[in-house]
Amino acid sequence: MRQPLLAVKDLQTHFELRQWGFLRLGSVRAVDGVSFTLDVGESAAVVGESGCGKSSLARTLLGLYRPTGGEVLFEGRSLALLKGAAMKDYRARVGYVQQDPYGALPPFMNVRRILEEPLIIHGVRSRVDRHRRIDEALEEVGLGSAAEIRDTFPHQLSGGQQQRVVIARALLLRPHLIIADEPVSMLDASVRVEILDLLHSVQTVHGIALLYITHDLSTVRHYAHRVMVMYAGRMVEQASVESLLDRPQHPYTEALLAALADPDAENARHERHVPVGEAPSLLNPPPGCRFHPRCPQVIAGTCETRDPPDFEPFPDHRAACWLRE
Ligand SMILES: Nc1ncnc2c1ncn2[C@@H]1O[C@H](COP(=O)(O)OP(=O)(O)OP(=O)(O)O)[C@@H](O)[C@H]1O
Ligand SMILES: [Mg+2]
Repeated sequence: MRQPLLAVKDLQTHFELRQWGFLRLGSVRAVDGVSFTLDVGESAAVVGESGCGKSSLARTLLGLYRPTGGEVLFEGRSLALLKGAAMKDYRARVGYVQQDPYGALPPFMNVRRILEEPLIIHGVRSRVDRHRRIDEALEEVGLGSAAEIRDTFPHQLSGGQQQRVVIARALLLRPHLIIADEPVSMLDASVRVEILDLLHSVQTVHGIALLYITHDLSTVRHYAHRVMVMYAGRMVEQASVESLLDRPQHPYTEALLAALADPDAENARHERHVPVGEAPSLLNPPPGCRFHPRCPQVIAGTCETRDPPDFEPFPDHRAACWLRE
């Protein structure tokens, strides 16, 4: 079997919560036993409501948080063992597109300087080569025709243009994976599709794998091959996008889809399509299945006490739900 690009095994990222710096209140289990793989060139969406641990997962995969447990293998090598040059190489191979493009760009550098910096750090010595690669990257993200863009500072750009610069920066180092954490949620609705189309096109053209993190299940059909549904620090369902949307197996996924189908319904709260009830605290997650307090299909005596493992009701379609036992 071909080696996946990324293999995540039982990953945990917990944050210690302290009062006055020393009184330990417990730990926030932001990522709590997540396993999945991502193939070369594959696009997978991670969907879940606010606070379920999506960004913590992204930042752990980027090497920004040290995991509390489990393992991340990238191209067969353990992230925990990467040091020095190997870590630098990993950072070039994994691009990051975050939610807030303005916050991601240094405010006192113009676009040329912003894009030149990673090339300098990663040892592209020739100025001519650097400028050629910057021109190519800007071309690729649709900013090539505007020559003056290179001398522009982030605050002079629109949100969509800023996100294009962020994507150009990720592309410059020829990544094998791009982690895009809610890449359009802070942009105007009018440019969201453009930016998602751009990510999709660079991903397809270069065979880059994409981990597309979103709270919006409505966008996944066009931009992902596979979907993983995250709830309270765990993946509760994983399948191909068709299988997941056509025959959801976890009541949480069903609730997300129902909220999506009826955006005016009371349970589609705000713009974020979420089911009724509150997401649980990750400091004290409910015992058994973490979704059981909100689940309309609880099996009494089971769901409140027993943690469901992954069941596979269809090939390559997994759901952590006792209904699928
Ligand atoms: N650096 C940190 N220190 C302590 N707790 C944190 C830290 N980062 C995240 N958390 C907590 O971990 C939990 C998951 O947060 P995270 O930001 O990963 O969720 P999310 O799914 O990305 O949410 P959103 O959709 O709002 O971006 C939250 O309870 C959050 O308060
Ligand atoms: Mg987040």
